[in-house]
Amino acid sequence: MGQYTLSINGAARTLDAAPETPLLWVLRDQLQLVGSKFGCGIGQCGACTVHLDGVPTRACVTPVGEVGRRQVTTIEGLSKTGDHPLQKAWQELDVPQCGYCQAGQIMTAAALLKKSPKPSDAEIDAALDGNLCRCGTYLRIRAGIHRAAE
Ligand code: FES
Repeated sequence: MGQYTLSINGAARTLDAAPETPLLWVLRDQLQLVGSKFGCGIGQCGACTVHLDGVPTRACVTPVGEVGRRQVTTIEGLSKTGDHPLQKAWQELDVPQCGYCQAGQIMTAAALLKKSPKPSDAEIDAALDGNLCRCGTYLRIRAGIHRAAE
C-alpha cells in the first residue's frame, strides 16, 4: 500500500492504494467518480478514457503509482456544469444509445478538438478509432464533434 495525492479535476485528492491499482478503480471505487466506465479492463475499448495532462489515457491500464504529478481529468471535470460544447452537442443530437461508452468517446473527442479545432471526418475517425461503441453510434459521434466544432 502507498499513499498518493493526485490532482483530479483540479483538486488534490489523497488516497491509499497499492501502486499497481488501476487508476479507474481508484476513480470509481474510492472517489465515486463513476463517469469513466469499465468495459474491457485491458486497454482495448476506451470506455475508461480520462486525460492525463490533456492526453487521452486508458485508466483501466494506468497504475495509480505511475500517475505522479500529472493532472487527471475525468468526464466530471470536463466542464463545471456539463456545458462543454461536446456535451451540448451530444444532447442536441441525441448521440448516445445505451450511453456506456460515451464518456470515453467525449474525452477522446475533447482532446482531439484541443489539437484540431475543426477536424475532418478522417481526423475524427483516426482519433476515435480505439473507442468502441457496441450500439454503433459512430456517425452520430462524428456529427456531434462537428457540431461542437462550429
Ligand atoms: Fe479501459 Fe476498456 S475499460 S480500455
